[in-house]
Amino acid sequence: MNFKKTILCIGAGYVGGPTMAMIAYKCPQYKVTVVDINPERIAQWNSDDLPIYEPDLGEIVKTARGRNLFFNTDIEKGIKESEIIFVSVNTPTKTYGTGAGMAADLQYWEKTARQIRDCADSHKIVVEKSTLPVKTALAMERILTSMNNGIRFDVLSNPEFLAEGTAIKDLEDPGRVLIGSRETPDCLKARDALVEIYANWVPKERIITSNIWSSELSKLVSNAFLAQRISSINSISALCEKTDANIIEVSRAVGMDSRVGNKFLNTSVGFGGSCFKKDILNLVYICRSQGLDEVADYWEGVVKINDYQKERFILNMLSAMFNTLAGKRICLFGFAFKANTGDTRESPAISIAGRLAEEKADLIITDPQALKNAMIALSDVNGEIDYVKDPYDAAAGCDAIAVMTEWDIYAGLDFEKIYKSMTKPAFVFDGRNILDHEKLFEIGFNVYPIGKPALTHF
Ligand code: NAD
Ligand code: UGA
Repeated sequence: MNFKKTILCIGAGYVGGPTMAMIAYKCPQYKVTVVDINPERIAQWNSDDLPIYEPDLGEIVKTARGRNLFFNTDIEKGIKESEIIFVSVNTPTKTYGTGAGMAADLQYWEKTARQIRDCADSHKIVVEKSTLPVKTALAMERILTSMNNGIRFDVLSNPEFLAEGTAIKDLEDPGRVLIGSRETPDCLKARDALVEIYANWVPKERIITSNIWSSELSKLVSNAFLAQRISSINSISALCEKTDANIIEVSRAVGMDSRVGNKFLNTSVGFGGSCFKKDILNLVYICRSQGLDEVADYWEGVVKINDYQKERFILNMLSAMFNTLAGKRICLFGFAFKANTGDTRESPAISIAGRLAEEKADLIITDPQALKNAMIALSDVNGEIDYVKDPYDAAAGCDAIAVMTEWDIYAGLDFEKIYKSMTKPAFVFDGRNILDHEKLFEIGFNVYPIGKPALTHF
């Protein structure tokens, strides 16, 4: 079949896979190929057991796969054959050398840029889909044109704003699609070609364009603003616990001001996910490199409050349970960094589990989708850890339940039954404020929500 456009995505991860699946699903006239250096991941994309869990992803992949959506490891061929190349490789926090623990590790991205340069034998539009430091497109252009072989590369920035757990919904009906480009005639033409792809299903007014540096920076700033709201409400949750104010009432009252808005004001044990912390630290690093220490300190505070919130949670558990957790059985309800995903990257549950193990507690972990990843995440943690799919079995015989993830199923459990099966006194620490605290207290639990007075029988 003759396709109208050939599109390649390098990097078959949480972003590359679903994003390309959506383009292929909406645009059968385009051939979309997703490549990766990891053959196992590609094999999973070609199977019924996809490498990531996202509601509705399976259906979309099934419809397009083999029709106009292809997954393979032949990166070189993919580059040669495609007109538009999305780069969606990982950009984690650097763990070595200058900027360790703060800057983005650009090695995967740079290797990809070099590979595109070395394999391309015709004009390519190269799209930065990964989240990158502002000004990366300049380095990209320099690498791509360093062979001086007359091949033209137009670099665009098209950051992804999907959230895990709602990836398909976000891709199908995005609040905005941002495309940044240089203002040269060639780059503007390339930008129009990318707009044309999205315009197949996204209303034109939601496809916004900007200069390329604004686009790169907007992605980092969007994540920083979202995370800042969570740290803001979490910082106030600590004050609520000292003053008998109730964080849910405070957040409702504050959020009803339309200038503030009511989203992203749910207090929690802390934000997780592969991006918030990494992107803020990257922003902090860029600001410091530019000599903007006050700006860097301001944003670093968002991450510090997040760490504080997790540590506060552990200290509350310790003091509520008579200052010793040694030998106590503690059940973590949820391990994913948020509901509706199996992803555990930077999940607050990882540091909570690690701290509980340090206190010599025995851990029982339950989660509907994330048990496999939980085992990997905790493989270095010493101590007794059991992984149990069924929440009733997991809680039986435990001294305490700590809610880590806001899975809907937890609020609907039969807590009378759970209470009967637990060691007494039985405790619930609700790190997501999703349970009915008064009801749990009536059943007999000692209940410790976040940002609300504890309900205890002592
Ligand atoms: P991921 O780790 O799930 O996937 C990245 C993939 O790139 C991996 O499969 C890896 O094997 C592959 N890869 C690395 N180097 C490669 C190379 N040289 N050639 C081919 N493949 C290579 O990462 P992700 O979560 O999809 O994130 C990708 C980027 O998107 C990051 O910059 C991230 O900040 C950004 N982002 C992520 C999300 C999210 O929800 N996860 C949302 C928006 C933006
Ligand atoms: C976030 C952004 O929402 C996306 O727009 C962005 O594309 C993505 O990061 C990225 O760049 O990777 P994601 O991390 O998948 O998406 O999920 P969020 O819904 O933002 O949740 C992040 C964390 O904050 C979760 O741990 C969640 O439980 C927590 N959270 C969220 C709260 O604690 N309170 C809230 O009110 C909202």
